[in-house]
Amino acid sequence: LPAFYPYIVPLKVSNLPFRLLKLKESFIAKFGSAPKFYVRAPGRVNLIGEHIDYCGYAVLPMAIEQDILIAVEPVKTEVVQLANINSSYLDFSTSVNNIQINKTKPQWHSYFLCGLKGIQEHFGLNNPTGMNCLLDGTIPPSSGLSSSSALVCCAGLVTLKANGKTLSKVELAEICTKSERYIGTEGGGMDQSISFLAEEGTAKLIEFSPLRATDVRLPSGAAFVIANSCVEMNKAATSHYNIRVMECRLATKLLAKSKSLDWKKMLRLQDVQASLGVSLEEMLTIVEEVLHPEPYSTEEICKCLGISLEELRSQILSQNTQNVSTFKLYQRAKHVYSEAARVLEFKKICSETPDNAIQLLGELMNQSYISCKEMYECSCPELDRLVDICLQFGAVGSRLTGAGWGGCTVSMVPTDKLNTFLKNVKKAYYQNDGQRLALENNGLFATKPGRGALVFVEA
Ligand SMILES: *[C@@H]1O[C@H](CO)[C@@H](O)[C@H](O)[C@H]1NC(C)=O
Ligand SMILES: *[C@@H]1O[C@H](CO)[C@@H](O)[C@H](O)[C@H]1NC(C)=O
Ligand SMILES: *[C@@H]1O[C@H](CO)[C@@H](O)[C@H](O)[C@H]1NC(C)=O
Ligand SMILES: *[C@@H]1O[C@H](CO)[C@@H](O)[C@H](O)[C@H]1NC(C)=O
Repeated sequence: LPAFYPYIVPLKVSNLPFRLLKLKESFIAKFGSAPKFYVRAPGRVNLIGEHIDYCGYAVLPMAIEQDILIAVEPVKTEVVQLANINSSYLDFSTSVNNIQINKTKPQWHSYFLCGLKGIQEHFGLNNPTGMNCLLDGTIPPSSGLSSSSALVCCAGLVTLKANGKTLSKVELAEICTKSERYIGTEGGGMDQSISFLAEEGTAKLIEFSPLRATDVRLPSGAAFVIANSCVEMNKAATSHYNIRVMECRLATKLLAKSKSLDWKKMLRLQDVQASLGVSLEEMLTIVEEVLHPEPYSTEEICKCLGISLEELRSQILSQNTQNVSTFKLYQRAKHVYSEAARVLEFKKICSETPDNAIQLLGELMNQSYISCKEMYECSCPELDRLVDICLQFGAVGSRLTGAGWGGCTVSMVPTDKLNTFLKNVKKAYYQNDGQRLALENNGLFATKPGRGALVFVEA
């Protein structure tokens, strides 16, 4: 596969899939002319490695088939017009020379603007082209399958192609990671990286600084099943996510200070491990020695670091954590270092394929879930119930996936049990709840590693 974007796939008109044809027709009806190209960027499911990308640690996701698809026509004005096939999402237009992103109340188009702005700024574009864009998304929103990052990535690739520029996949992933932060969330880069670096048939170990992706072949005897709890969770609209990011940063600073490291420069839990040159297991011991399980007040944190409350607020706390009064540091650090070790173990088992590989991977998924629930406190009662149901009906391992507090679970199910598993989970979680049943079609499905983002043109 090419390492650079735009990576263009010509499609014979006679082979245009129904979805593209429908999008093309709607585009013509909306804008009065035909799109010049199409871009798609997939969502993802994270198999293991939750809430550790922003701490600097490797994660293990795969792209799913569901994606954001955008039909595009560059235009000679300086206006970008955005429309969505789903009329719940209102039309939006703005000058490409004056991009304003609303952090207070992000709308669907805000994510498009993040990708647009990221590419404009990277190239310092003086005269970015205007565009007409029509979007069709199939990733259930706020479900932990990365619909928002897929939209940022899709918009980044749309802008790259429309302005005649080229970037490596890795550069594009890094730019889209940074530009999604215009919305106010401090994501770590997993979602954007897998959206661009994914390849069909293989999950990926994604490592950071420098960003790289390694194939991870999943065992052939098992299917990975996504099940939506039908509780919505939007990273940008909740404080939980940003508080966890800050708790990890504060734990980093306290651990670094206790080991006489240059704590002011350290931002991620991985920085502490790298500076000390110790193993993840040793980091777990250090956490137990240095931090206490009781929550830390801001006063205690200031005392440990030898700084004033004003310094804490202005130099360390983010805009959206200024008013938080207590932070759990021990539990968050324990989760991160143990989860980082589980990711490496998962990858090792996938490459060594021992006879009991499926059993071992299931145990790791179970442990990851328990750590998310108990140490990171990012589950919710509906996710807990769904994990229980999945394990009860034959999953070897099951866990929440994505940020949590709602969204989806991912379960590993022996292939020969898949059909009865799906039937039973449907009955137990979805059947008796009208709202859940309505979402079940898009909310309970087995998935295979899909391909990364690409550009289509009509040949
Ligand atoms: C359109 O989007 C809304 C909001 O996400 C969703 O509830 C609805 O099911 C979508 N409609 C279709 C036809 O996909
Ligand atoms: C952002 O959205 C809020 C709520 O809709 C609105 O009050 C505010 O004016 C918006 N800010 C900008 C910069 O558009
Ligand atoms: C923090 O609290 C102050 C005083 O209660 C309030 O004025 C301010 O809006 C709050 N800031 C945030 C980011 O919630
Ligand atoms: C995962 O956890 C469930 C519930 O505790 C258990 O029944 C199952 O055996 C575990 N899977 C493995 C592979 O240990």
